[in-house]
Formats: sequence, C-alpha cells, structure tokens
Amino acid sequence: MENRHGTILVTGGAGFIGSNFILHWLASEPAHVVNLDKLTYAGNPANLASVSSDRRYNFVQGDICDRGLVADLLLKTRPRAIVHFAAESHVDRSIHGPDDFVRTNVNGTFSLLEEARAYWSAINQAEKSGFRFLHVSTDEVYGSLSATEPAFSETTRYAPNSPYSASKASSDHLVRAYHHTYGMPVLTTNCSNNYGPFQFPEKLIPLVILHALSGKPIPVYGDGLNVRDWLYVNDHCEAIRTVLSSGRPGETYNIGGNNEIKNIDVVTTICSVLDELRPTDPIVPHKKLITFVKDRPGHDRRYAMNATKVETELGWRPKETFESGIRKTIQWYLNNEPWIQSVTSGSYRQWMATQYSL
Ligand code: NAD
Ligand code: DAU
Repeated sequence: MENRHGTILVTGGAGFIGSNFILHWLASEPAHVVNLDKLTYAGNPANLASVSSDRRYNFVQGDICDRGLVADLLLKTRPRAIVHFAAESHVDRSIHGPDDFVRTNVNGTFSLLEEARAYWSAINQAEKSGFRFLHVSTDEVYGSLSATEPAFSETTRYAPNSPYSASKASSDHLVRAYHHTYGMPVLTTNCSNNYGPFQFPEKLIPLVILHALSGKPIPVYGDGLNVRDWLYVNDHCEAIRTVLSSGRPGETYNIGGNNEIKNIDVVTTICSVLDELRPTDPIVPHKKLITFVKDRPGHDRRYAMNATKVETELGWRPKETFESGIRKTIQWYLNNEPWIQSVTSGSYRQWMATQYSL
C-alpha cells in the first residue's frame, strides 16, 4: 500500500454508518481511506461496491483486536486520523449474548488506542499535533429520560442500561483517559438513532420496511411509546467530518436530529408512505400488520439529544427532516432488492427466529 498524505483509517467501514461515511468522504474529500473491517454479520463489502475501484479506497479485512495487524497497518498507511466505527451495535443481540460486545467494543477499542498511541508517539511533531483519533459513540451511554426531563447534553452523567450501552460507555471512558493521561488528540461523538441506506434489517426502520413489503407481522415492543431521536445517516456523516476537521481535541460532541418520535409513530409513518408507494402489496393498509410483542428487557424509555455545542461551536446542522429522510430511505430499500436478498439469508433468518420466533 503506497504512503499517501492525508490518509484516514476507518474501522468498521463495511457496516451501516461506516459505509455511508466512506461514500460521503470520497465524494467530498481528496484524501485516501483505508477501511479495516472484520466483516461480521453486519459488515458487507457490497455497500462499497461503487467505490471498489476508486484508487483512493483500500479495504483490509481484519479485527481491531489483532494488535499486530493494526500496528502494521498504521506503519504502512501512516494515517493522519483514525475514525473508529467498528463495534457490535445491536441492543437486542447484546441482551442475548454480551461477550462479543465486551470483546470488540471494550477490548477492541483498547487495542486500537494502544496501537494508535504507539504510532502517534513515534511520528514527528507536526504530524503529531495534526493527528486525530475520532471515536464514534452513542446517546445510549446517558441512559433513559422521562417524558419531561431535558435532552442529554455533553455533561449529562453516564448511566448505561444495556450490555451494549455499557460497553460503549466503557470505550468512551478509555478514549477520554488517553487524552487526559497521554495527551492523545482524541474526539468523541455521541449520536442519536441513525437511519438510511444500507442499514441492516435487524434495526427498527429497515425491519419495518421489509416486513411491511412482505406482509409479515411488524413487531412493536411493549406499548410502542418509547421515544428515539432520529437522524438521517448522511447528516451524521457530515457531523463526523465537521468534528474531525474542527473539533477541539479532548472534547465530546453530542449529535442529534431534533426529531423525537414515538416508535409507534415511526412505524405508522412508514406504513402510510408504503400505502402510497405500494398500493398493491398483499396487505394494505400496511398498518394492519402492526403487532405488539413482548418488551425488550430494560428498554430505555426516551432518548433526546441537545446538539447545541456542535451547532454553535462548529456550525453543523442536520439537513434532512424525518419526513424527507424516511421517504428517501424507503425508496432506497424499494430500489435495492438484490442488496436485501444478500443480507437476509442464513444467519439473518437464525436471528429472526431467536428474537421473534418467526
Ligand atoms: P453496524 O453494526 O452496522 O456495523 C459495525 C461494523 O463493524 C461492521 O462492518 C462489522 O463488520 C465491523 N466490526 C465489528 N466488530 C469488528 C472488529 N472486532 N474488528 C473490525 N471490525 C468489526 O454498526 P453501525 O450502526 O454502522 O454503527 C457504527 C458505530 O456507530 C458503532 O460504534 C455504533 O456504536 C455507533 N452508533 C450507531 C448508531 C446507530 O443508530 N446505528 C447511533 C450512534 C452511534
Ligand atoms: O440511540 C443510538 C442507538 O440507536 C445506537 O447506539 C445503536 O447502535 C442502534 O442500534 C440504536 O439503538 P436502538 O435500540 O434505539 O435501535 P433499534 O432500531 O434496535 O430500536 C429502536 C426502537 O424500536 C427501540 O425503542 C426498540 C424498538 N423496536 C426495535 C425493534 C428491532 C421495536 O419496537 N421492535 C423491533 O423489532
């Protein structure tokens, strides 16, 4: 791999947000991207098919826990930044089996930080001060809000409630410590729920779209009144690029869509857009498919993000409303049948059987 000025190393770039980020990056920036991804069930190189022959893009299959591999890759590619997405990301899976979450999210982030520190310590002063380690995290580290509490800010106390959010909280603390102790120029972004193209259909929005299209029951947990703040994935990618270029090292930035919506309203909105776009589907209106099912254990009631800091300090604002973003997303799934077929085979069916007895 040639040594190119300005290269960034992305981890987990074959997943949902990582692949959107790489596509967004290559469309907006001249610099090269190296994508290190283990290709778990959630990683899909097909997400990046459109840039696979771009000279600025390199894919390396590997595990962030493999310190030898990470050390070699850093020396070979000499990145000016690491943008760290790689994680186990699904709350329900963390409830069924937390081991992989601790392994990748905690130990993996630790390994990456250690190798980044070794690399960063050895580069020259100019490169050192320009280097950034951007850690992509979640609003779930702050726990759950009641209906009337103010939105999470960067100073809200951490109170993670699921194995997933606890593992992300641990990784956030490690990242923070590497700045405080070693002076490493780290940045952390904590973002709300993303949606958009290439999202694996274990998550609410793509799962509802696919079930509605195929006439399967649409599972809504509990009373359906849990609230999430939805952000279109491209807006998140733009926020990460902004924080990477202008964020202050050692700082954390909350990112949100200012779109607090109850789950049942998300589901009925998707059903009505599909009624319009797919009036001849087997079951119409699609909302007839809504089925209330057993609640998620420890289900957080409400998330809301106060994104004032990134808005006022760095000038980032989301471009998409939920109405525009959800239409684009539904249309993307309608136009990408082969992608859906490729991700809903073997291991996906197994997961659906475990989680929903389907
Ligand atoms: P995802 O599950 O779609 O993708 C994760 C990617 O990481 C996959 O490509 C997978 O193969 C890779 N990966 C997993 N373990 C690895 C390992 N040990 N080594 C190398 N690669 C590995 O996740 P996503 O939804 O794209 O989330 C990306 C990041 O953003 C995560 O850190 C997540 O916590 C965070 N986040 C997600 C959301 C959201 O709504 N999806 C919101 C806020 C923050
Ligand atoms: O808030 C950011 C987080 O958002 C990210 O850190 C996580 O990686 C991401 O998975 C997401 O977590 P959630 O648990 O909020 O997302 P999920 O899509 O799994 O669920 C959204 C809401 O919908 C939640 O209240 C649970 C509910 N739900 C989910 C599924 C899969 C259902 O009612 N039925 C379902 O079948």
